[in-house]
Amino acid sequence: MTLRYRAPGRVNLIGEHTDYNDGYVLPAAIAFDTVATVSPAEKLELVSLNDPPAGWERYVLGVIEQLQKRGVVIPPVRLVFDSSVPIGAGLSSSAALEVSAALALLGAAKRELGKLEIAQLCQQAEVETVGLACGIMDQFIAMHGKANHAVLLDCRTLVSRQVRIPKDIALVIADTRLKHELASSEYNTRKAECEAAALELGVTSLRDANVWNGNRRARHIVTENARVLSFVESLETNERRMMGELMAASHASLRDDYEVSCPELDLMVECAQRCPGLIGARMTGGGFGGSTINLVAAEHSEAFRDRLARLYEAETGKAPNILITKAADGASASTDDPRIQ
Ligand code: GLA
Repeated sequence: MTLRYRAPGRVNLIGEHTDYNDGYVLPAAIAFDTVATVSPAEKLELVSLNDPPAGWERYVLGVIEQLQKRGVVIPPVRLVFDSSVPIGAGLSSSAALEVSAALALLGAAKRELGKLEIAQLCQQAEVETVGLACGIMDQFIAMHGKANHAVLLDCRTLVSRQVRIPKDIALVIADTRLKHELASSEYNTRKAECEAAALELGVTSLRDANVWNGNRRARHIVTENARVLSFVESLETNERRMMGELMAASHASLRDDYEVSCPELDLMVECAQRCPGLIGARMTGGGFGGSTINLVAAEHSEAFRDRLARLYEAETGKAPNILITKAADGASASTDDPRIQ
């Protein structure tokens, strides 16, 4: 029997690099996803219908290892992946791959696991097999996304809450097309720097800090956690000026204190200020390339996209890839597999 499962990419509205510091994040799943089709085979076969970077299979092999550790017996299968999530754009194509693979393999093995456990095993696959010491945000939202909502996640307790995104606000993602290839060593360095800062401040993790003693990495985490909670309030009351200010402060903090932005992301955020309908703009995801997230008054989203593309191209000579999207549901079976709700 052939089974098919989909898992979405994500965009993070605010709360960047806070997840591995036990902090708050506010991602949304997006209407771009990876579809995994699984069918019986003689031996394991992995096929991508896209043009993925070398070594993409490691993500799937990592998931297989994690499933096996949990006692899942995986029969020989052919797994075919077809993805609309731009790769290397900071939109979590890797989590979409891992989660779609996990669901497909569980389907083939006729096993069920809870949503949180699936998210966690996919995160562990990335940490242990791929070597990126990532937090839980991407895999969590790929499983728990909700149409028209962002999800506030407390990465310490793993308690989450859906926050409605006002209907008249569009999510506009501006991909610089600068692939964030060098990001993983810097990412792991930031994580180590945060652990050292927590030790120095005498706290378990930076989530518990409220001072930073001149440490800029710590200042980013402490102020970013506060911004997430204020942003949720402003989203719930549709206070657009506040949303914009918080997103601008988040970007500045990532650029100046956490040092994970790059000239292209900074320029994309600056150009957005000159486009119609902008509510707020900031880099999204790990940084060092990839995309910005723009909240835009929906009636202006196309004019915004066209003007942003023109302004950015005029400055850089490179055409960005700008996507107008909305918050989507988390992973699911795309056949009528009764095992997946
Ligand atoms: C990557 C990681 C996430 C998170 C973000 C930064 O996407 O996979 O866990 O740390 O970067 O917020």
